[in-house]
Amino acid sequence: MGVLSAIARTLRPAPAVAALTAGALALSACGGSSLDQSGGGESGGPVKIGLLIPLSGVYAPLGQDMRDGFKLYLDQHGGKLGGSEAEVVEADEGEGPQTGVPAAQKLVSQDRTTAVVGVVNSATALGLRDFFTESKQPLLVANAGADAITAGRKSDYVWRTSFANGKVGAALGPAVAKEAKGGVYLIAADYAAGREMVAGFRKAFEAAGGKVAGEKYTPFGKTQDYQPYLSAIRSSGAKAVYAFYAGAEAVSFVKQYKQFGLSDEIDLYGTGFLTEGDVLKAQGQAAVGTKTSLHYSAELDTPRNKEFVAAYQKAFNEPPTVYSVQAYDAAAALDKALAKTKGAGGQKLAEALGEVGPIDSPRGSWTFDTAHDAQQKYYLREVRSSGGTMVNAVVSELS
Ligand code: PHB
Repeated sequence: MGVLSAIARTLRPAPAVAALTAGALALSACGGSSLDQSGGGESGGPVKIGLLIPLSGVYAPLGQDMRDGFKLYLDQHGGKLGGSEAEVVEADEGEGPQTGVPAAQKLVSQDRTTAVVGVVNSATALGLRDFFTESKQPLLVANAGADAITAGRKSDYVWRTSFANGKVGAALGPAVAKEAKGGVYLIAADYAAGREMVAGFRKAFEAAGGKVAGEKYTPFGKTQDYQPYLSAIRSSGAKAVYAFYAGAEAVSFVKQYKQFGLSDEIDLYGTGFLTEGDVLKAQGQAAVGTKTSLHYSAELDTPRNKEFVAAYQKAFNEPPTVYSVQAYDAAAALDKALAKTKGAGGQKLAEALGEVGPIDSPRGSWTFDTAHDAQQKYYLREVRSSGGTMVNAVVSELS
C-alpha cells in the first residue's frame, strides 16, 4: 500500500455532508422544486449549483480543496450567488469519465442544476464537453486542463477558471532549458493531462535550446512503484527531470525519487501539481528543492492573497491550494454572471460568463480569454522548508 494511505494520513477527515449544510452553504439532497432545466434562481428561489469533484480515487484530496474553496466564497458572500441563495449538490467524479460522466448527468437531469462547477481530470472534461453543450448548461471547469476544451473543442457552454495543460508546461520550458546542466528526462501519468503537460513543456523547452534525454508515461492510477522508471532515468544520463503527477501519485513519485537517491544527482522540475497542498505535506523533506510552474502559490506576497490565505486558514485550519483558488474563482465568476441573468441559467448564463470582466482572484486578477480560459500569470516556485513546514516559495514570474 502506501500510495493512498500516505496521503490519507495527512488529510483532514472529509466533512460529512451534514457539516456543509451549516452556515451559508446549503446542500440539496436531490430533486428540486423547479422542473426548468435552467434552475430556480430566476423565479426568486435558490440557485442550484452542482459540485462535481473527486471524492474517491487518486485525486480525492484535490476535490476536498475545491469544495473548501467554493464554500469559502459562499460563506464570504452570505451564501448567495448573483443575489439568490445558493444550493450546492455534490457528486463524485471519481478517477475519470466512467464515474464522472454519469455523476454529471445526474446533476443536470435529476437534480436540475443551473450550472456545474468542478472536474479535476482532463479525460472527464473531454467526456463531458458534448453533454453540457447539448444540455445547454454551463460547465465551469475548475481544474481539468485538457487543451482541446478551450481550443478545437471549445464550446459556448464550457468555461475554465483553471489552466490549459500545455500552457502550464510551456511556462516552465525556457527556464529549464536555461538552468539544466544537460539533457532532461520527461515523465508523466499516461493520460490526456500527462501527455499534454509534457507536449507543452517540450515544445517551449526545445525552442529555447533544451535537449530531451528520454521520455516515459506511467500507467495512470495504477502505478505505485516508480523504481523501474527511476532506474531508467538514472541510466539515461539525464541532468534534470520534468514530471507531471498530482494527488497520491505525486506523493509516491517524489518520495521514491528521494529514497532512490536521485534528488542528490538530478534536479527535479514539474508542473506545480507535483508539490501542491496535502501532497507537499505528505512528501515533507523529500520535496525540498523541487522547482515547478503554476499560476498560484499560497506564498504569493500580495494583500489580496494574504487576506484570502488568512480567511482560508481560519476556516479550514490549513493553507489554500491552487485547487481551492480555482473553485473559489468559479464561484466568483458565477456570482457575477448570475447577477447579470438574475438567476437564469442556460444560454443566458453562458453568454453572461463572457461578460464577467476581471476576476479579483488571490492568484492575481485574471479574465476569461476568447477561448474561455483564464488569462493569467505563471510563477516559478521552489519547495523550501520554512521553520519545518514545506512551502512553494515564489522565485519569479514566468513569461
Ligand atoms: C488533469 O487531469 O487535467 C489534471 C489533474 C490533476 C491536476 C492537474 C490536471 O493536478
